[in-house]
Amino acid sequence: MDLHGKHIVLGLTGGIACYKAAEVCRALVKQGATVQVVMTEAAAQFITPVTMQALSTRPVYDSQWDARERNNMPHINLSREADAILIAPCSADFMAKLLHGRADDLLSLMCLARPIDKVPLIIAPAMNREMWSHPATQRNLAQLRADGTHVLGVGNGDQACGETGDGRMLEPDELLEELSAFFQPKLLSGHKVVITAGPTFEAIDPVRGISNLSSGKMGFAIARAAHEAGAEVSLIAGPVALPTPRGVRRFDVKSALNMHAAAVEYAQTASIFIATAAVADWRPAAESPHKIKKDGSGPAPELVFVENPDILAEVAASPRAAEGALFCVGFAAESHDLLMHATAKRLRKSVPLLVGNLGPATFGQDDNALLLVDANGATELPRNSKLHLARQLVAEIARRLNSH
Ligand code: CTP
Repeated sequence: MDLHGKHIVLGLTGGIACYKAAEVCRALVKQGATVQVVMTEAAAQFITPVTMQALSTRPVYDSQWDARERNNMPHINLSREADAILIAPCSADFMAKLLHGRADDLLSLMCLARPIDKVPLIIAPAMNREMWSHPATQRNLAQLRADGTHVLGVGNGDQACGETGDGRMLEPDELLEELSAFFQPKLLSGHKVVITAGPTFEAIDPVRGISNLSSGKMGFAIARAAHEAGAEVSLIAGPVALPTPRGVRRFDVKSALNMHAAAVEYAQTASIFIATAAVADWRPAAESPHKIKKDGSGPAPELVFVENPDILAEVAASPRAAEGALFCVGFAAESHDLLMHATAKRLRKSVPLLVGNLGPATFGQDDNALLLVDANGATELPRNSKLHLARQLVAEIARRLNSH
């Protein structure tokens, strides 16, 4: 229920992407928001107000002359209550209209009449690729941003007109992710965060290797939460099957050595390093260039291991970390005696904050419980979704950084 208690004015303008607005409306309600739909005349050519009323459970407004409002001023009444006006889809024509402050229909009138400091305007453009790349649209886009409008990106791919390119409206789930991010406090703005996530894969031969059960979900949730909090995020991911959180720069790696090289490089310019990856402690001493065959001629092959570098300990021992320019956070996946192991691990790795969790209970799950251990003791973050915990962890990191 990411948008619980939020009141969103959902504005629809003319475009085939109106069909996605129905799904957006439903998802907003599901996330706990109340939704007031306002449609332009063109939008009603693509989807009916009946559909939008049923999904939002509120009458739809489409005219500035709507006499249902006692004072006959729907443009004032509807905009004052909103936590945000989200225009999805926003056509090229409507962008041009917003830019010039025109107000000849209810939706544009509301956008102009809204208290600009209290009611943010968010637009999700949707149009043909030529319209999108046209200098007029790009100019309007830049000016709308300069005027304080929060412009969401566009998708790329097949378009209703049969062409392929930029300009599609974001998918409903992407739009919802952007909207919940918009409402998160910008606790890490100006920070560069590097996160390691997932397992590593240590090759034995070209078709075999050793890995572990880490799903990467906690690290990916932290990457999302850090991005929502306004940070520039680089996510170094071992082999996992997870989508990249929006706005996060992802760098895929396989082995502990690959992850080590990437982490050491990225950490050089970061201000926060969070090691959630379940890095293999050892790797086979030599990777066989060919598949090891079972020809029945002798004993089973014996594997010889060498130790992998400890990425976190090395980054935490760097001069930037020592000077306080890089705040390092470690994770500990334990199977028992969490507090004792986490406390010992924090000291061993020399990190200001270590987050303990019970590995077998959380691998692959969507929820978790965390134990935060720092120099002052331990704090529990009780079981919740990984995204919720990630947001709490981001707030805890921000608090520690601000108290320095
Ligand atoms: N870590 C790392 N590089 C390694 C091993 C661990 O960066 N080669 C990081 C993990 O990402 C995590 C922390 O160190 O943030 C602790 O990882 P964990 O596997 O729990 O601890 P280990 O140091 O491997 O200790 P042990 O296996 O004995 O519990």
